[in-house]
Order: sequence, then structure tokens, then C-alpha cells
Amino acid sequence: MNRITFTLMCASVAALLGLSCAALENGLARTPPMGWNSWNSFELNINEDLIRSMADAMVHTGMKDAGYQYVVVDAGWKNKTRDSSGKLVADPSKFPSGMKALADYVHSRGLKFGIYTDAGTEDCDGAGPGSAGFESLDAATFAEWGVDFVKEDWCKSDGLNARSAYTKMSEAILAIHRPMVFSVCEWGDNQPWLWAPAIANMWRTTGDNKDCWDCGQDTKRKPGGYPRGWTLILDDQRALQQYGGPGHWNDPDMLEVGRPGLSMEESRAHFSLWAILAAPLIAGNDLRSMHEQIAEILMNKEVIAVDQDPAGISGTRIKSDGLSEIWARPLSDGSFAVLFFNRGQSYTESRVTWRDLGWSADARPSVRDLWKHRQLGKIAHGFSASVPSHSVVMIRAFEGPMAH
Ligand code: GLA
Repeated sequence: MNRITFTLMCASVAALLGLSCAALENGLARTPPMGWNSWNSFELNINEDLIRSMADAMVHTGMKDAGYQYVVVDAGWKNKTRDSSGKLVADPSKFPSGMKALADYVHSRGLKFGIYTDAGTEDCDGAGPGSAGFESLDAATFAEWGVDFVKEDWCKSDGLNARSAYTKMSEAILAIHRPMVFSVCEWGDNQPWLWAPAIANMWRTTGDNKDCWDCGQDTKRKPGGYPRGWTLILDDQRALQQYGGPGHWNDPDMLEVGRPGLSMEESRAHFSLWAILAAPLIAGNDLRSMHEQIAEILMNKEVIAVDQDPAGISGTRIKSDGLSEIWARPLSDGSFAVLFFNRGQSYTESRVTWRDLGWSADARPSVRDLWKHRQLGKIAHGFSASVPSHSVVMIRAFEGPMAH
């Protein structure tokens, strides 16, 4: 669907529901935010030394040069109570130097600093006071500390209306005049893709991601999301493509790339699909000890370029026979990223024709393999891929000369 069709469709759906299609224009997140977040590997076991060493690792591993920017401290940083003036304070046993000093350190490494709070009365896992009723004070505190990214969760939110609760924080952030990416983490419960584009730079479309292929199918929903394998999360994204775009992105949750529960091929597939979806790329592995192949996955500049394409049009699944899928994403230079994804247990052969991409039958695009970093030449009719189990083949096809 092109943007004009989307705008028309959004306008009619919005009129019916009394919502708005206007997108937040705070100048941030023109491409999907990239960074690292503490939750997936460390949960509540975080402290200032850990975050500092992760900022160092972002730089010396090359992640920063590859485009990763935000170092986000998730739940677990807050003191259990506010101070006498109502301000949030850091847990002194874990963050004795305070959050401003930590933000300064992250900035000194040329990176940006992100922080976590909750739209309800308490953070998930009771990890600290929520921001309900304190939005202006908390936004001002974050600005004073030098925060560049605010993730707001949805625990202890009984009785709250999601749209108005998140709008309060969004307005508080705008009023404070510090550029802060606003990341809504409402797990997709109240169809945030219909209202969050107007108030946020990204919104979770789903419960939590987990480092497994498809575990969690039977998990009962519980506050704090319901962790599921990334292929199940992927399945929930297919109707949402039209809602993301520059400045406002669907967020199918942070990456499990390099986490213990995924094979190397599964990590590669996960990363490729998040790039096809134009998803934020927020790594969650321990960057200080990542395997060389994981570093190659997270820093594959050609796949990152697909994710970060300035047109910001998400890809869609164009073919599926149950196990073997083909996804395609149109890119701003007129090329297509095409992803062959094998969910099965053995090799599959899969074929896209250029007509599937909307090109004429006599098109002869240049084709480049984005994982092998190899030019495959000009190819007529279409492209056939042989895809290993739980893996992907990813190409970029361009009808003119390719600039690589
Ligand atoms: C929820 C969120 C996660 C993480 C945890 C922290 O589950 O969805 O991303 O922030 O809370 O407790």
C-alpha cells in the first residue's frame, strides 16, 4: 500500500473511531531507532558499572559506527520511593553516582541515553514508582538528567485509558523542550498503532519477545507482557505494516539476536525479518562477550541499510506455503529487499518472479546477496533461493546499476 492509500484509509478508519492520523513530528526517529537495552539479558540485575561497560562495548565492538545509538536502562534503576519533593531517584545501591552522571558518561562515548518508566502506578515487577500523575515532573527530571529516549511501560495500569495515559507523558515531554524519543510499551493491548503515531515515535505491537523460535504459544497473558518466541511475534505483525513510517514506528520488541536460546541461523533470520519490517533495532545481548558471527549479524551494514531505508515503508509477506515464505520491502532507490525465510526443518527451494514485485516480465535487475555480500549479476525472470532450515536468504534487486 502506498502512502496516499494509507492516508485515505487511515483517515476513514480514524473518522469512524474518533482518532487521528496525524503523526508526532518531533523531528526524531526519522528511521527506526537503533540501540541496546538492558532488559533481555539482565532483567532487574543492572547497575551503573554494567551500563557503562555496555556503552564502552557499543563503541569498541563497532556497534556505534554501524548505527546503534541509544543505550537504554530498562526496569530496575529506580529507588522504591520518590524523594520528599516527589522526584524519581535512582536506587543508590545500584546507581550510586545517579542517572545524570550515567547519562553524561554515555554521552561522552558519543551515544545517547535512554531510561524506563511506567504509565501506571508502579513499574513492572514492582521495580519502582510509576509515572501516573507525575508525568510533568518525571519528564522534567529526565530532561534535567540528559535523557534522550523514554520507554514507558504498562504495568499497574488498571482503570487507565491507554491513549490518554500515554498522551500525558507525550505532552509532558514536548513541553519540556528536550528532544526525547518517546517509546510506548503497551504490548499492543489497545491497538496503539491507531492512536500512538500522533503521540509517540514507536509503540510496542506485542507482548515481550523471548529467545526461542516459537515457545510461549500457550502462555497465559499476564501483566508485563507474555514472552513468546520471535516467530510468533512476527506472525502478529502482518496486518500492521501501513501504520509505521518516518518518525513513528511499529515496535515488535527488542532483538533476541545473540541470546542463548537462538541458533546462529535463527539469529540471522530474526535480524533480517526485523529489518524487513522497518522495526527499531534494539539489541539485547551482552555486547561485551558476543560471538564473532553475532557481531557480523548485528553489524551487517547492508541489512541495516534495509531497516534504515529513508522511505520507511515496511515490507510484507508476498508468498507462503506454510513453511517457506517470501517477504519483500520496497526501498527508496526503487530497489526491493527480498527475503526468503524457511521455517521448516530441512532445506527449501523458493522462487520469486520479478512480476511478483510488480516489475514487467522482461525486467533484468541487478541482484546482490546481502548476507554473502556478493553481486550476483543481472538476472532475468526471477530468483530462486535454496534456504537452510530456520534461516534466510536475503537479496536486494535493483533495475538499474547498483551502487556497491
Ligand atoms: C515489560 C516490558 C519489557 C520490560 C519489562 C520490565 O514486560 O514489556 O520490555 O520493560 O516489562 O519489567
